[in-house]
Amino acid sequence: MVDNKKSSQISGFYKLPVNERVKVIKKFANLDDNETNLLSSCLDIGIADRMIENALGSFEIPLGIAVNFKINGKDYLVPMATEETSVIAAASNSAKIARIKGGFKTECTEPLMIGQIQILHMDDIAGAAQKLMSKKKEILALANEQDKILVKFGGGAKDIEVRILDSEIGKMIVVHLVVDVRDAMGANAVNTMCEALTPMMEEITGGKVRLRIISNLADKRIAKAKAVFDKEKMGGEHVVDAFLESYNLAAVDPYRAATHNKGIMNGIDALIIATGNDFRAIEAGAHAYAARNGQYTSLSRYYKDKNGNLVGELELPMAVGIIGGAGNIHPKAKVCKKILGIKTAKELAEIVVSVGLAQNFAAVFALSTVGIQKGHMSLHAKNIAVMAGAKGEEIDKVANQIVKEGKIKLDRAEKILKEIR
Ligand code: MEV
Repeated sequence: MVDNKKSSQISGFYKLPVNERVKVIKKFANLDDNETNLLSSCLDIGIADRMIENALGSFEIPLGIAVNFKINGKDYLVPMATEETSVIAAASNSAKIARIKGGFKTECTEPLMIGQIQILHMDDIAGAAQKLMSKKKEILALANEQDKILVKFGGGAKDIEVRILDSEIGKMIVVHLVVDVRDAMGANAVNTMCEALTPMMEEITGGKVRLRIISNLADKRIAKAKAVFDKEKMGGEHVVDAFLESYNLAAVDPYRAATHNKGIMNGIDALIIATGNDFRAIEAGAHAYAARNGQYTSLSRYYKDKNGNLVGELELPMAVGIIGGAGNIHPKAKVCKKILGIKTAKELAEIVVSVGLAQNFAAVFALSTVGIQKGHMSLHAKNIAVMAGAKGEEIDKVANQIVKEGKIKLDRAEKILKEIR
């Protein structure tokens, strides 16, 4: 086992017992005992009761660590909250292959979110749109009055865009307020600004403001990751070709693209949840972005480099924050952010998009070679063994037997358990 405190390449991590894994993470991220204890404890009911209404308790999802990630030259251990077998192993394996050619390289735009303000019932809609543009300075100033702290940190409302749309109920204006939200996800700041602008917008246009809300199609806040996957490690150039054949179906067919993108979101959501971010917002943005050219397609792109290695790229909206929101309240999310060692929302966005690419590469690699079931089966078999009533050492015995027989079925597991007992 590599015992470099800051290397995320920890071979055999999965073979360690849970308490040993925790020790490794503790050392890597300088966690204290309180923080390591939090990793395996439930959310305090008092906190849950303040987070949502009518709270009863908390619903647990397993939390694990993906290893091997190198992103822009820095090593990360990535906390992932997921109920799905194989996701963490797959991400770790992809990250290991990506490391050979230097790991993931990323880019991010500024953290610009869009707030929408809908205005209706104007006689001269083109004139109203022009008046809005001419009052841009005043509009931005009033928006920025709402969040002086954000402005102090270099963020705030930066621009407006005015769109005229036609609909079944007639024409309307939609103003886009473009806000730099810095290290926040931004929904609160943006929504507050949009609501505060209502009287001013009505006065300028003579119309009626109706809906005011952030857009989850955060296409001004884009994160991109790129990695080169070594052809030899993949099994040769013919495997790269097989990969590209599989990928190209996702590029042209929405039925495949939906599943392909789901595989990307397997990784992304797991990290988004672990850091207390809004996975519905990320999902909505991702799928809307995948359809931005009129046809739903793959969020990732793959091709060969001049040496025959596979190059993967992933690009999508990434509205994540490291301040505010549930991530600031949920104690486990705070520990996860400490494990990542992130300093900015941009850094988190870059890790998220790299994990998405790793997850996608793993799925398509498996699908174009051995198929997806093989990797799923050993943990799935353990779940079946537990469902059959196996306990302690019985779990591995039953699971191994049903895998060996290729009959990963509950009735067979029950029979084997009876025989063992
Ligand atoms: C399963 O959760 C995800 C996959 O279906 C993704 C894919 O098909 O690319 C394996």
